[in-house]
Amino acid sequence: MADSPIPSARPARFSRRDAGLGVDPGADLPAGLAAHLAAHLTAVDRPIAAARGLPNAAYTAAEFHRFERAHLFARAWTALAFCADHATPGRVTPVDFMGWPLLIACARDGRPAVFHNVCSHRGRRLVDAPKTTGGLLVCPYHAWAYDLSDASGRLKSTPHIGGVGAHQADGFCRAAHGLKAVRSHCWLGVLFIDLSGDAPAFEEYAAPLVARYRPYLGAAMDGGAAAAEALASPAADAGLTLEAECNWKLAVENYCEAYHLPWIHPSLNDYSPLQDHYAVIVSEDFAGQGTRTFRPALGDGDGGDGAGDGGGDGDGGGDDGDGDGAGGDGALPEFPDWPAAQRETAEYPVFYPNLLLGFQVNHFFALIIRPLAAGRIREEVRLFYTGDGAHAARCQAARAANLAAWTRVFSEDISAVEGMQRGRQSPGFGGGVFSPAMDAPTHHFHRWVARKYRAALGDGGGCGDGDGDSNGDRGGDDGDGNGGRDRGRNNGDSDKIDSGNGGE
Ligand code: FES
Ligand SMILES: [Fe+2]
Repeated sequence: MADSPIPSARPARFSRRDAGLGVDPGADLPAGLAAHLAAHLTAVDRPIAAARGLPNAAYTAAEFHRFERAHLFARAWTALAFCADHATPGRVTPVDFMGWPLLIACARDGRPAVFHNVCSHRGRRLVDAPKTTGGLLVCPYHAWAYDLSDASGRLKSTPHIGGVGAHQADGFCRAAHGLKAVRSHCWLGVLFIDLSGDAPAFEEYAAPLVARYRPYLGAAMDGGAAAAEALASPAADAGLTLEAECNWKLAVENYCEAYHLPWIHPSLNDYSPLQDHYAVIVSEDFAGQGTRTFRPALGDGDGGDGAGDGGGDGDGGGDDGDGDGAGGDGALPEFPDWPAAQRETAEYPVFYPNLLLGFQVNHFFALIIRPLAAGRIREEVRLFYTGDGAHAARCQAARAANLAAWTRVFSEDISAVEGMQRGRQSPGFGGGVFSPAMDAPTHHFHRWVARKYRAALGDGGGCGDGDGDSNGDRGGDDGDGNGGRDRGRNNGDSDKIDSGNGGE
C-alpha cells in the first residue's frame, strides 16, 4: 500500500460548527429517579411544620451528582477558588469542578480568568498541573497555542495545520477556535463562575447580601479596588482544608442552623451560646444564622490560648469598651464601619449553593464546598482580615488562635455531616422533618434546591430530551454581554471578552 505523504501545504475545509461546546449526556436523571424526585418536591415546599426534607437519593445517588452539576451548579454563581491564589500573571492552574476540567489563568493585569481546560483541536486537557507561562498556553499534544496574556484565550498559532511548514489553512478561522471561556467574577476574595452564562449579572445577584453586610464590612463588600484595600490579603496562616464523607447539601444544611451547638460545639456554645442565635433569611438565594454574642478569647497578643477553650479571659476578643476596635496591642484590627453597639454580633449566611460565609467584627471567613462525588466533599476555608496591621507579627498570636478556633469548629462538624450521610442509606428515613423554631434556614435551602430541581425537570433540559444546553454553547458568546463587570463570557471569538471583573 502506498504511503500518503503529509502534504506540505494542502488546502483544507473546516467547519465552524466544531467551535461549539458539547452535550452533557449525564445531566438526565433516569426516569424512575426523576419521577420519585418530582413526587417528593411537593412535600418539600409545604409550610415548614408540615414539610419533608429532600429524598435520600438526592444525597446518595451518583446520578444526582451529575444532575446537580448541570442543572444546579452550572446555572448559578458558584464559588470555585480564592482570587489571591490566582494573582500571579502567567500562572495557570487546572481545577476539576465536579468532574469538569477547568483552568484558571492569571492575565497580565493580575486578575483571574476561567476557561474549559481543553484544547480546541483534538480535545487534550491543556494543563495537567499548575505552571507559569509567558502568557502563551501551548498544548502539549500538537503545540497549538492560546493567548492568555489578555485573558482572551485567543488561538494564536497552529503549527503545520496546513501541512508541514504551513501554519495557516484555507477555511480555518483561528478566531472561532479559541479557548472556551467560563464567565467569572471575583468578590470578597472568592472567584465565582457561572458555567451557563445565563445567570444575572453578579452585582445584581449578590445585591441583597451586599446590602445587608455593607454597613458592617464597608467597602470590602463592594468589589474592585476599594475592596482590595479594605481587606488584608489572606496570610499563609489563614487557611485550612478538610474532607468529609457526605453530600455537599449536608454541609450547607448543617451550617444553616445553630440548633446543634450545645452538643457538637460545646466550646463555641460557651462563647457564642445557642440562646443568642437567630435565623438569617437574606433573600431567595442566601440564608443562614447569626448570633448577638460572639465573644472568643483570641489572646490579644498574650500568647493566645485559642478561642476554642471557651473560657479564659472571657471578653478577650478586644471588647475594651472604647469602641475603637483596638483591644490590646495584639488585637486584630476591626472593620471600621462595623457598628460599635454590635461588636459581638456575627452572622453566617450561605451563598447558595456552595459558599459559607462568616462575618465577625475583626475578620470574615469564606468556606468553599467542593462536591467530589455524591457522598464526598472537600472544604477549603480562608480567613480574611482587615487593615494594615492584621498581618503584623504582633497579631500573630491572635491569628493563630482564631485559626485554631475555627479549625476546631469546622472539624467538629465532620462527624455530624458524615452521620447524616450514613443515615441517608436507611429506608427508615424519607427526608425527615424540620423544627419550625430552629430549622427555618435549612428548610429555606431545601426549597431553593427544590426550585432548581423543578426547573430542571420541567424545562425539558433534565429528563430525556438531551438538548445539550446544560452547559453547552451557552457558556459561549451568544449575546450582548453579561451585566458589565463579569469576566469571560466568550467562545471562539475571544476578542469579545469583557475584561472588567471588579475583583481584588
Ligand atoms: S490536541 Fe491540542 S494541539 Fe492537538
Ligand atoms: Fe456546626
